[in-house]
This record gives sequence, structure tokens and C-alpha cells, in this order.
Amino acid sequence: MKMGWWRKWCSDFRFLGILLQFLLLTQCAALKRQRIHKNNSDDEMYYSPVQLHLLEDHVVLDNGILNVTLSTPAGMITGIEYNGIDNLLESEYEEINRGYWDIVWSKPDHPQDITDKLDGNSVYVVREDENQIELSFLQTWSSSKTGLPLNIDKRFIMLRGSYGFYSYAIVERFKGWPEMSMSQGRIVFKLQPNLFQYMAVSDDRQRIMPTMHDREKGHPLDYPEAVLLTDPDNSFLKGEVDDKYQYSSDNKDNRVHGWICSDPPTGFWMITPSNEFKTAGPVKQDLTSHAGPISLSMFFSTHYAGIPLMVKFGDGEPWKKVFGPVFIYVNSVSDDEDPLALWADAKEQMLIETKSWPYDFPSSEEFLNAEQRGTVSGRLLVHDRYISERPIIADSAFIGLAPPGDAGSWQRENKGYQFWTETDARGYFVIKDIRPGNYNLYAWVPGFIGDYKCNFQINILPGSKIRLRNLIYAAPRNGPTLWEIGVPDRTAAEFFVPDPNPTLMNQLYVTQPDKFRQYGLWDRYTDMYPYEDLVYTIETNNYETDWYFAHVNRNVGNKTYVPTTWKILFNLVDVDESSNYTLQLALASANEAELQVRINDGTLEVPHFTTGSIGKDNSIARHGIHGLYWLYTVGIPGSLLLSSNTNTIFLTQSRGSSPWRGIMYDYIRLEGPPSTDIETLKH
Ligand SMILES: *[C@@H]1O[C@H](CO)[C@@H](O)[C@H](O)[C@H]1NC(C)=O
Ligand SMILES: *[C@@H]1O[C@H](CO)[C@@H](O)[C@H](O)[C@H]1NC(C)=O
Ligand SMILES: *[C@@H]1O[C@H](CO)[C@@H](O)[C@H](O)[C@H]1NC(C)=O
Ligand SMILES: *[C@@H]1O[C@H](CO)[C@@H](O)[C@H](O)[C@H]1NC(C)=O
Repeated sequence: MKMGWWRKWCSDFRFLGILLQFLLLTQCAALKRQRIHKNNSDDEMYYSPVQLHLLEDHVVLDNGILNVTLSTPAGMITGIEYNGIDNLLESEYEEINRGYWDIVWSKPDHPQDITDKLDGNSVYVVREDENQIELSFLQTWSSSKTGLPLNIDKRFIMLRGSYGFYSYAIVERFKGWPEMSMSQGRIVFKLQPNLFQYMAVSDDRQRIMPTMHDREKGHPLDYPEAVLLTDPDNSFLKGEVDDKYQYSSDNKDNRVHGWICSDPPTGFWMITPSNEFKTAGPVKQDLTSHAGPISLSMFFSTHYAGIPLMVKFGDGEPWKKVFGPVFIYVNSVSDDEDPLALWADAKEQMLIETKSWPYDFPSSEEFLNAEQRGTVSGRLLVHDRYISERPIIADSAFIGLAPPGDAGSWQRENKGYQFWTETDARGYFVIKDIRPGNYNLYAWVPGFIGDYKCNFQINILPGSKIRLRNLIYAAPRNGPTLWEIGVPDRTAAEFFVPDPNPTLMNQLYVTQPDKFRQYGLWDRYTDMYPYEDLVYTIETNNYETDWYFAHVNRNVGNKTYVPTTWKILFNLVDVDESSNYTLQLALASANEAELQVRINDGTLEVPHFTTGSIGKDNSIARHGIHGLYWLYTVGIPGSLLLSSNTNTIFLTQSRGSSPWRGIMYDYIRLEGPPSTDIETLKH
């Protein structure tokens, strides 16, 4: 096995290795366009025609740049030959375990998970000419009656002159088909471990990764996905934690990720050109690439959300959806060039793919081209009279169409398509390429709590160009701000995130900004607050340094975790005992939690307010800085508050027994009584 050049350089010097990675990244950013070995010309003359080779139980798609081998009729990707490498995929693995689609599902009366690899029972050549080949692998339910009650049409496309191939699937069920639920659907690639050692998920998040073998030799931590590397082949990884959840991304940021081989310099990339077919909107988080080496495109899952994202079908419920296409991109540079140029090139390719969306080449009529889609445009403003009498521009708001539902329902929506964009600095937005259908228009605006929903449904027809006038979001608000903690942005990232335990580090997040992705931060709360819980004094404390990012349980030893109560101390002048005050409690995450609020008496048996049992997004254990969003508006009668003395709000997360039960706050605000005289508010 050839050692990557960076490994040779820094085998025993972990910190030198980190420094080197950093220097390479800086260098990479500074590189002008590196010469990537491909013909940038649009002139198809230069490229060989695409060919389909039919073998006994395989087919090969060959465009002269790469060869992709698929098993027939199953449609497993068994080989990718490129840049002189026989197979980018791990050929030691069985053919069904190299490159494949799968769905994890369950029957209502048998709750255990079943994994279906969507192996086709027939294969069709949908299109074959010198510019394009498209294959269809069908798995039909009627042939079995016991398996996954879906018809799957799994497609693979190779284009002439293209450095990669596309895959998508049309899944469908009909009236009369049985009840079932699905927890996950994805496409998976397992690469050759002796070639691919450097992983890139974003500009900041890239590093040399441990192998599966390193993980097997390591020491599993509190759950099997997290492993302490005790004896890695690459000694500078020794003592680090590896956990695939440390490399998750929000779907909006998950457009390209993958792996680099240093010798010969070769890249393998998963490019997701649109999120329309992903569930739960732009801030749904999911896995990307991880040790293996593995690259995924997760089409749907319960990760960072829990049960609400189980895709459940009632008895007889019909459904149809197109997942993808995603693009599997390969690239290379010559031996004397910097392999990190491959990441820069992959990002460029991602932009090319994104701009080409919706693609015009998929053959299935279920995949709609640009002419068959519609557009919605408009401008979003926010009304909050306690900030301004006039509407405020909704700058960088997330705005999108999703199937009809309540405000905020998009974060739990999992059967339809969603189309999101961000408003510009003046609040304008254009949502393009929307599939025909009925939708609601939803939005949320950083800096404001709550969810916007346009009060009428929007019906998109092919070619629709709907222009909406100014839309006004009336942000929840009952009175002027008396104090606030945090920033309303649906994450806990602005709060205090501790350093990890020095024996449980991922070196990547020592130098990169996403410190919250370190393992084991739940136990750092106990290290910081061994006996007394967090107390936050409004007048003197700062949420960036004094508000712990997650309200977790205390570890009292012997794997016992007990509930904790945080206190917010504040003074008020001239409390109006006959009026109502309002506590706005926005949560960024909840996992098997219950948040109770008591006012000025922490001993009360019955709390003033409780959320009840909420959430199972598991974001504390999975190092997400948010899961699903929750907003509670809690009324507080003035008679409970004091002018004469310091007030205390007690926040109790009452469900103990696990390190991962708890909540993350997004933002907390105390509002005074509603004011009828707006002039008095202008101080
Ligand atoms: C790229 O273009 C050159 C001609 O400029 C041609 O000789 C070569 O075969 C092309 N390479 C590929 C991979 O098509
Ligand atoms: C694809 O396979 C054919 C037939 O085995 C071979 O001649 C060709 O070199 C391969 N192309 C690539 C890019 O590996
Ligand atoms: C730890 O917990 C176990 C099970 O609850 C109990 O049997 C054991 O006595 C405890 N040990 C200590 C030191 O408290
Ligand atoms: C305060 O809130 C309570 C409960 O919502 C309501 O019954 C009461 O009328 C409110 N008081 C005032 C002064 O608005």
C-alpha cells in the first residue's frame, strides 16, 4: 500500500499534521484555478460516445472518462473505474455492499427495522445513444407481497463527457397497499480505504480520517458510533475520538462532500444539486461522509428530529415521489499538483450542477423539467411594533413552499417536496422550479421568534409565475422587551460551548469554529457545575460566556444522571401587578425532556408552566447544535413578580436518568405588559 504523501511527512507528529492540514487549506483557498484534467470545452466532439457493455450479470456504462459497473438485475454499483484505478469502491466487499440505495422500514405489528437494498428484479435500457445512457432497475412489490410495499424504479444516467454519473429513484405505492413506516432512505458509497484517507465536508471541515480497522481496534465510548482511537495505523490520530455524527450538516449546507486520494490524486464527491426531495426543510441535519471511507446522500431520516420524521403510511395510502438525481462526481490532477485542488474543483462542479437544476436529461416523466415547473416571488417584511412602527425588512429570512399545514409544519413534513430560498438584503425572494401542486408559503426570520405562514394556499401549475405583494410576518410579541438571552436563530451556537475533555478530542474542532461537534460535552456541565446549577444574572452575565449551550442532567457518578434547575435573576422597577408579563421561550432542541418554569418560588410542587414531555431529536448526543424548533409563550401575571426584590425564574429540565435528555435554548425574552401608548415605548 502506498502511503499518502502527507502521511509520510507527519506520521508521528500529530500537531504538525494538524498544522500541515491548516497550511494546505490556506494554500488551497489561495490557489487560483488549478488545472483540473478535464476538457472544459462544450464541444462534444472531443469526447468519446457513451457506450453500454452488456455482460452476463453486469452492465458497464463507459464514456471514456470513467466506467461504472452495475450488477443486473439488482442494480448495485459494483465498480467505478477512473484515473487508472480499477475500482474506486471497496472491491473486498461483496457486490451488494459497495454502492447501493437502501431504505430502512418496519411493519406496524413488527416494529423491528428491516433494511431493503432496493435490489431490482428487472432492468431496462431507457435510453441509449452516443450522448446518454439511462438504465432503470425495477423492484416491484406485487411480486413479493411481503417486502417493502413500494414500487422502486432506480435509475442511473451517464452523459457523454461527464466526470461522473447520476442516480435517482421513483418510488410509488398504490391504494390498498399495507401500512408501514420508513425511518431512512439513502444512497451509499464505500470507497477503497487504502486510497481515500482525506475527507472534505466543507471548507472548514476536512481532515485525514481513521480507517474502519482503526475504529475496530479502538475503544467504543458511550454509544457504538463514537470510538476512541487507541491504536490507529496512522499514529498521529492516536487518542482522538471518531464519530460519524461529528460530520453532519444542515441540508442547506450539504451540497458537496467526499474524499480525496493522494496517489494518484483523485477525488470522489457526492453532489446534491437540489434539496426539493429532502424532507423537513433547509435546517434538517443529516450525515454526509464518514470513516469507512463512506459517502452518503441521505434522502430522508429521523436523524436530529426523531419520530416526527418517520415516513408513515396508513393502510391503503397511495404515494409517489422522485428522489434525486444526485451526481456522483470524480476528478483528478497530475501527480505533481496539489490534491486539495480537487476540493475547490468539486465545489465549482457543485455550482455547475446547481445551476443546471432542474436537469433536462432524466428520462422519467416523473422528473419534471424547467418548463413544467413554476415560480413564486415577493417580498417579506416583519411587523413588531415594539421595535418599529413601520414594517422591518426580513433580511436573509428562510422562505419556502411545503405541503399545506400549520405554521412551522415544514420541519416535520416528510412526504412531499419543499422549495426554499433566502430573502435578499431588501427582503425580496424568488422561489424557482417549483413542481405543480398545492402548497403553503412558510418562512422564519433570523432575529425574530416564531414561524410565518402565508394565510392562503398557493397552487402551482406548469409555467406559473406568481408574484405576491408585500407579505407581513407579525412576529409573536405581547409587550416591550425587559430582557433577553441569546439570539433568535434556531440554534444554541451563540451560547457558551465548553472545551472537550482533553482525552476525548477530535483535533479538527480544536482549530475550526464548530466546537459544539466535540464528543462528550454533556458531561462538561457537571465538571463546570459540580454541585450548584447555573445561575444567570441579567444585569451582569453575558450569554456567550455564562449560558451553557445545553440544559443537561448532572452526572452524579455510577452512570446516574439527575435533573438540574437553572435560575435567571433579574430586577424590575414598578411591576404592574394587575397586568400580564410574557416569557417567550424558544427552544432549539428537545430530547425526552420536560421544561418546567417556576416564578420566584422554586419549591412549588406544581410549576407555573410546563412543556410536558417533548422531543426525541437526540441532538445532544449527536453534537447537533439544534434539532427541531419549539416556541412557548408563557403568560406571567404581574402579581407573581416583585419590584422590591430580585426576581428568579427557575427553569427545571425534570427528566433525568440519561446524559442525553435535555434541551437547548434558542432564545428567551421577558416582555412587559402590553402597551397601549406606543409613544412610551420609544425609549
Ligand atoms: C480532451 O480533449 C483532447 C483534445 O483537445 C483529446 O485529445 C482528449 O482525448 C480529450 N479527453 C477526453 C477525456 O475526452
Ligand atoms: C473502461 O473499460 C474498457 C473495457 O474494459 C477499457 O478499455 C477502458 O480503458 C475503461 N475506461 C476507463 C476510463 O477506465
Ligand atoms: C451503582 O449502581 C448499581 C446499579 O444501580 C448499584 O448496584 C451499585 O451499588 C452502585 N454503586 C455505587 C458505588 O453506588
Ligand atoms: C392575564 O392573563 C390571564 C390569563 O390569560 C387573563 O385571564 C387575564 O384577563 C389577563 N389580565 C390582563 C390584565 O390582561
